[in-house]
Amino acid sequence: MPPQNIVILGTGGTIAGRAASASDNIGYTAAQVGVEELLAAIPALAQAGTVLTEQVAQLDSKDMTFAVWARLAARVSHYLAQPDIQGIVITHGTDTLEETAFFLQALLAPAKPVVLTCAMRPATALVPDGPQNLLDAVAVARHVGAQGVVAVCAGVIHGAADVQKVHTYRLDPFSSGDAGPTGYVEEGKLRLVRNWPQSQSDRAPAAKIIASLAGPGAVPRVEIIMNHAGAGGAIVQALRAQGIQGLVVAGTGNGSLHKELEAALLAAQAAGVKVIRASRCFSGRVLSTPADTIPDSQGLSAVKARISLILQLLA
Ligand code: SIN
Repeated sequence: MPPQNIVILGTGGTIAGRAASASDNIGYTAAQVGVEELLAAIPALAQAGTVLTEQVAQLDSKDMTFAVWARLAARVSHYLAQPDIQGIVITHGTDTLEETAFFLQALLAPAKPVVLTCAMRPATALVPDGPQNLLDAVAVARHVGAQGVVAVCAGVIHGAADVQKVHTYRLDPFSSGDAGPTGYVEEGKLRLVRNWPQSQSDRAPAAKIIASLAGPGAVPRVEIIMNHAGAGGAIVQALRAQGIQGLVVAGTGNGSLHKELEAALLAAQAAGVKVIRASRCFSGRVLSTPADTIPDSQGLSAVKARISLILQLLA
């Protein structure tokens, strides 16, 4: 008998937000409504087979921490290992959704679907977008052959490596940039246009990393800085004085750096700080030349390159 159950893990966000007035789409408090209550507002989910729920966290995703990620990754790993579980849905705020998605994919590369979903309007809105997004996410988690960590919002499925929040207000705030989306959810059916994120069966290092993330002071200090007109090296020196282990710089254009910032970063690199060069551009990737001395982010945005570097330092 193929696995049939879906688990929905609640972590907060606008999808679980409450406002004083139904016409207020921005003056709300995120992370107020429990995952059980979110489901109760979607009668169609009752026809979607057995759905289990667990409230893993209840926070505005701007406040996301590695401690919450460690807890979430541990619960996701637990459910992925259950033979009766077909897929996992995670309700999440839109603001750092791309980071959580990337973290889970980089750590777990699951062979089952792990689907993050969200909303741009609170649960109390006149026309909330959360219920449809949640229903669509369950359709993705139930899809035979689905795998890896993806995000579902406004009927679009985005892969964890590509998804980025690109709009502050629109109901469809995510883009997969040049890669394009993985597919679309239309009336509960999937129209796929790309492959699912890759899975990887060896999860032993993941368990070790999850355990180490839970310890105090366990997360290597990696910060993000940006190149801009008038950028200098003082910020790098200040961070080095604090014992920084890694730095991701969001360079201009093709990862270019102000000469003073570059000099400070090269000095940091020579002293053993891991330095990665991303771009502050939304689309495209940094293309290195043989003359470049700071490694590029391999197509990752600055926030994802930071997570990748932290995981490398932990491993
Ligand atoms: C959050 O990220 O938790 C709040 C904003 C949102 O979900 O859109």
